[in-house]
Amino acid sequence: MNLSYLDRFSGRLVAPLYSTIPIRSQRTDDIAIEGRNLNFSFPTRHVKAVPILRDCSIRIPSGQFWMLLGPNGCGKSTLLKILAGLLNPTSGTVYVKGPKSFVFQNPDHQVVMPTVEADVAFGLGKLNLTSDEVRSRVSRALHAVGMSDYMQRSVQTLSGGQKQRVAIAGALAEACKVLLLDELTTFLDESDQVGVIKAVRNSLDTSAGVTALWVTHRLEELNYADGAVYMEDGKVVMYGDAERIKSFIEARQSDYIKQINS
Ligand SMILES: Nc1ncnc2c1ncn2[C@@H]1O[C@H](COP(=O)(O)OP(=O)(O)OP(=O)(O)O)[C@@H](O)[C@H]1O
Ligand SMILES: [Mg+2]
Repeated sequence: MNLSYLDRFSGRLVAPLYSTIPIRSQRTDDIAIEGRNLNFSFPTRHVKAVPILRDCSIRIPSGQFWMLLGPNGCGKSTLLKILAGLLNPTSGTVYVKGPKSFVFQNPDHQVVMPTVEADVAFGLGKLNLTSDEVRSRVSRALHAVGMSDYMQRSVQTLSGGQKQRVAIAGALAEACKVLLLDELTTFLDESDQVGVIKAVRNSLDTSAGVTALWVTHRLEELNYADGAVYMEDGKVVMYGDAERIKSFIEARQSDYIKQINS
């Protein structure tokens, strides 16, 4: 196997953070998500705190769909929770445009109301909107995720991917500017997986200024991304073009398989 192209991705040649960001579909030049020099350790009772994030920096442009990848345990979910404000970093700075929404992996943790329409409208109660405005937001959000025909359906009858799309519609109805999505497709079959990822892509393409950061292990999903970030051992080690990061991970995987077979 020819591994020569791995050299192109050595640390030296990887586009450094805060340099020019390769952008496939430029809509705005401002930044929606930024974490700088983040450090994080989980407090433990018995042993010295183990560092999870180490001087980790990330920057995502507004209006784009970026993906975050890396081996199990490298700190992707921890970083996402810090960006969502669910965890506080030990040091470093965070900027994320608001309102923002964090969507979890398990579809059954996403939906709370009996029907699709009620679930999407759930978060709007606090906004003091007229009932016409609520109906219009719910209808636009369900349209964006391709779930208009399911408005009156009981959420219990939906597939996992349909529940994820309803959760995303809820965030869009609340006019969230940033979607933080942690491995939404892990438990889904292929058709639900494609449905959810297309729903996010379409939401960004039809709602001005919405940004999504999507954690995944599935390399084929990179085909839908405007850019990607690759983490190892608590820090970002590659950043930028999704195709290059896909080739880099594929090369790493084949190298690993070659090693264990030799
Ligand atoms: N509550 C916790 N207390 C102690 N350690 C934790 C806690 N949550 C996560 N960790 C550890 O932090 C490290 C990073 O975990 P994290 O969940 O961020 O990784 P990840 O990249 O999302 O992994 P995966 O791909 O498996 O989802 C792991 O070593 C994990 O065991
Ligand atoms: Mg995780």
